[in-house]
Amino acid sequence: MTARSLTARGPAAFSPIAQRQTSGTTRLGAGGKGATVTLRGLSKSFGVKPVLKNVDLHIPAGQFVAVVGKSGCGKSTLLRTILGLEAPTAGDVRVADAAPNVQAARIMFQEPRLLPWARVIDNVVVGVRNKSDKSAARAAAQNALDAAQNALDEVGLGDRGGDWPSALSGGQKQRVALARALVSHPRLLALDEPLGALDALTRIEMQGLVERIWREQGFTAVLVTHDVSEALALADRVVLVEDGAIALDLAVDLPRPRRRGSPELARLEGIILDQLFRTGDRVAAEAPADALQEAYA
Ligand SMILES: Nc1ncnc2c1ncn2[C@@H]1O[C@H](COP(=O)(O)OP(=O)(O)OP(=O)(O)O)[C@@H](O)[C@H]1O
Ligand SMILES: [Mg+2]
Repeated sequence: MTARSLTARGPAAFSPIAQRQTSGTTRLGAGGKGATVTLRGLSKSFGVKPVLKNVDLHIPAGQFVAVVGKSGCGKSTLLRTILGLEAPTAGDVRVADAAPNVQAARIMFQEPRLLPWARVIDNVVVGVRNKSDKSAARAAAQNALDAAQNALDEVGLGDRGGDWPSALSGGQKQRVALARALVSHPRLLALDEPLGALDALTRIEMQGLVERIWREQGFTAVLVTHDVSEALALADRVVLVEDGAIALDLAVDLPRPRRRGSPELARLEGIILDQLFRTGDRVAAEAPADALQEAYA
């Protein structure tokens, strides 16, 4: 087993809240292919401004976790710290990979970030880590092209490899970004509001695609989203971040694919929205769940 570990100080008191509350929720998409993620006493400040405050979180291999919370509460910082893109100010981040010699983690953002001067297939090839020496370069390049073609097939764009990114719709560009993130078969896929800029129908379609690929490949997924219904449609577990701490850690132990509008999803949505709007605004707290959802999205 390989592991990436970032430590800012010695061992912190570790209380695996999530492990306790969500045990038994990782049956889907597991298959031993995902990375486990463990945060212990994680804090992150920018200058004097504390953003994450003593976060403990354990994500078992293959689990699909959604992270929700109000704008500025620290969701992206949490994701970036898990991926090692930000160093913790205090505490410990551990990403343990079930299988050695594979790309451990990839991230996908709200915007596709495609290279405009490269054709679609070459944008996906960018996601292949090239470990070959010169003598193996030709074979490696062909392998990378094959892998990129497979990834494009997986996201339903197998016939668009020769196109320029400018010829694609917004949803298609995000599918290319997803193919690029998945081409190296990561053990951890981090998604920072990847569907936020898409229209409602394309978004639902993409949610289905992400769920299908996650179930097929078994990676661990951490999805930051503003959309509570999206979180509940996709995740085994929803973590609500409030002022840099985990205010709610909710297991979503429902069969897949989930039926939108089901009473059980509505009940869970109510719990999350109550927590989100619990402070300050009594009117908001008493408003119907769908009105709050609209206000939050
Ligand atoms: N590199 C940085 N330097 C200074 N402050 C930062 C930096 N990155 C984030 N912050 C601050 O940390 C806080 C949390 O930011 P973060 O991007 O994690 O929020 P978020 O929950 O993802 O918000 P949103 O939903 O709007 O994307 C914000 O107050 C932000 O200004
Ligand atoms: Mg963010």
